[in-house]
Amino acid sequence: HAHGAGRLIQASDCPALFTPRGNDTHKGSYGTLGLIAGAPGMAGAALLAARAALYAGAGKILVGLAEPDSCSLACDPLHPELMLRPAGDLLAQAGSLGVTCWVAGCGMGTGTASHTWLAQLLTRLPGEQPLVLDADALTLLAGDPALATMLVSRHTPAILTPHPREAARLLGTGTDAIQADRIAAAQALAARYRAWVILKGAGTVVSSPTGQWSINGSGNAGLATAGTGDVLAGMLGALLAQGLAVDDAARAGVWLHGAAADELVAQGTGPIGLTAGEIAPAARLLRNRG
Ligand code: APR
Ligand code: MG
Repeated sequence: HAHGAGRLIQASDCPALFTPRGNDTHKGSYGTLGLIAGAPGMAGAALLAARAALYAGAGKILVGLAEPDSCSLACDPLHPELMLRPAGDLLAQAGSLGVTCWVAGCGMGTGTASHTWLAQLLTRLPGEQPLVLDADALTLLAGDPALATMLVSRHTPAILTPHPREAARLLGTGTDAIQADRIAAAQALAARYRAWVILKGAGTVVSSPTGQWSINGSGNAGLATAGTGDVLAGMLGALLAQGLAVDDAARAGVWLHGAAADELVAQGTGPIGLTAGEIAPAARLLRNRG
């Protein structure tokens, strides 16, 4: 087969999701996630991703709202655990704040400020923290070869989470071509950007930078609703924050996201009318039940 052998991602591939917490731990044991997201008018994308990361167990979450000067939102009234500040401030303070991994792109915008923040994230941070790029970060990446060079020059592989249209932009082709051979598309993206790729949509494909692929066995059409991609990005960031290796985080994240949607459908909370904000609480229940 042209793609090589692949796997189906199932619960048994994700043991790290169900590892009990040790008693002698503290919030630092579960990482500090930095999230660059939520341009003006898109604060909801930032909150969906940040809340999902909270429910997925990250120790601490710093939200850098992609707004030029000050934030339109001082805090999340529903989740005051989240720390909100302007994206530029968060990036400038990242070292002293001890950010251990990053998610960027959810409703981030594609203007010059967002481009600058993404370039900083890819090049100027102390050390190399794992990184998830979603949505507008992928659009920026597709539009500027300099950003692509920064990405492939990193030593730590990133996770890219394109939906088919974003994948098409990244590969310079059309959505039909992506959907005609989703495995090949995921492999091509992974090779081009030397990253782990999660090609979203029914039958989400995960590819390693070297083209080893798997297809998610969980999920349903209830996920075809606004904001579910933001939730996936936040969950992936939280799993990275908790120390999962990039490959384990990618597979476990897509499986958990889909399994939560399956649980919601079993409860009658979907597929019709399932909302993105319900996914992470359902995922939390699945993990804590074991
Ligand atoms: N079956 C299984 N999973 C599905 C299905 C389906 N039929 N439909 C959608 N999903 C899952 C995808 O696999 C993915 O995890 O739902 C999620 C949808 O993610 P996105 O397409 O990123 O949707 P959304 O969060 O609303 O983001 C849309 O962000 O990426 C930008 O351009 C995009 O502005 C738009 C916004
Ligand atoms: Mg999206």
